[in-house]
Amino acid sequence: MIPALNPLVLSLKESATLAINVTARKMRAQGAEVYHFGFGESPFPVPPTIQSALRKNSHQNHYLPTQGLPQLCEAVASFYKDEFGCRFTPEDVFIGPGSKELIFQTIYLMEGPLLIPAPSWVSYGPQAALRGKTIVPVATSRDNDYKITPEALDEACYQLGQSQKLLILNNPNNPTGSVYTDQEMAQIAEICRAYHIVVISDEIYAMIDFTDKKQSSMHHYYPEGTIVSGGLSKSFSAGGYRLGILMIPDELAILKQALTSVISETYSCVSAPIQYAALAGYSDFESIRPFIKTCSQIHDFAGNYLHKRCIDMQLNCPKPQGAFYLFPDFDNYRPALKRNNIITGPQLSQHLLEKAHVAVLPASDFYLPATHLGVRMASVDYDGAVVLTNWPGGDKLSEAQIETLFPNLKKGADALEQFLDGL
Ligand SMILES: Cc1ncc(COP(=O)(O)O)c(C=O)c1O
Repeated sequence: MIPALNPLVLSLKESATLAINVTARKMRAQGAEVYHFGFGESPFPVPPTIQSALRKNSHQNHYLPTQGLPQLCEAVASFYKDEFGCRFTPEDVFIGPGSKELIFQTIYLMEGPLLIPAPSWVSYGPQAALRGKTIVPVATSRDNDYKITPEALDEACYQLGQSQKLLILNNPNNPTGSVYTDQEMAQIAEICRAYHIVVISDEIYAMIDFTDKKQSSMHHYYPEGTIVSGGLSKSFSAGGYRLGILMIPDELAILKQALTSVISETYSCVSAPIQYAALAGYSDFESIRPFIKTCSQIHDFAGNYLHKRCIDMQLNCPKPQGAFYLFPDFDNYRPALKRNNIITGPQLSQHLLEKAHVAVLPASDFYLPATHLGVRMASVDYDGAVVLTNWPGGDKLSEAQIETLFPNLKKGADALEQFLDGL
């Protein structure tokens, strides 16, 4: 029997990030050495505060309120107030099984096209496609670290006319590692206000910021139209716990009502023990702060190590300022690649995997044209627990220590270099 499918799902494939993870792991299982720069997962262990709260709460077997455990909603609101100066109340907070699901539900509930910077995270587009939405990539340039400008956003909005618009802005950024400054945020906010755009500010990498400044959020400049998302997955190193948060301002109260209904008719609530574990993380953040600071320094080191190697290979690549990604392009090798019949990003990624055993994702998975000869590299292919225990501080690392603590970053960069030299 061939069941008829919803036409909106027909064009979807497995998410590129999850697919590359499966391929790289399969190659490793077959004995191949693979340098896995394709998947962005925190390599560190879950902080002990959260792990022990999870153990203590394994008996929690009741369904929890749709919006989330009330104490957790309170703890999240006050964490965001203390750490980021946000003005959300506990009633604004929603707990979901990962911010990915909460972002999807928000997209699902909203009318109008979805604007996203090009490049942007792989999943926004397919999520919008599942709702039959038009996706409008906003152009960026390498010279501006692939961040949108007010002018580019204005142009895209102007072309769209009167319809309601949704924008997702991710800061710090996957796939580029860029971080918006306060001034940039303030200027973009004015365009959002002018067009009454509803903004999802995806702040899942909020505490992985190497700029030493307080995280800049659209919420500070455009609170009435900005929804903030985050969760345990990246800075708290607990992606597999599947706990995300979403905070919706009162001005968008109708969305809160609708989201409550949709959650109650879909996943009901997030697993109770996980919510209690998250409660420990958000309410006793002081016990986790040093861990997060050290992990962030390690991410900074790893990103900058790969960045330096890319620059030494004549790749063009903005210096990562947060998250754990780099977005190099191979423009300087375009003629040499063409001689080898490589003219698109997907071909380049395929060759890198087959010939150099370096797993990366092509820029076209992030809404850039196929001929953009760029890739996204994740800088987390190392054993986070080992690095944490032996971390002497980034500026104190010798070449030998880099080889011991980050063997795959070193070997992967060497393999990439050899591939380019052999062209
Ligand atoms: C930019 C971005 N947003 C959202 C997510 C979703 O995170 P989660 O669903 O684990 O909260 C990810 C995960 O990779 C991401 O990179």
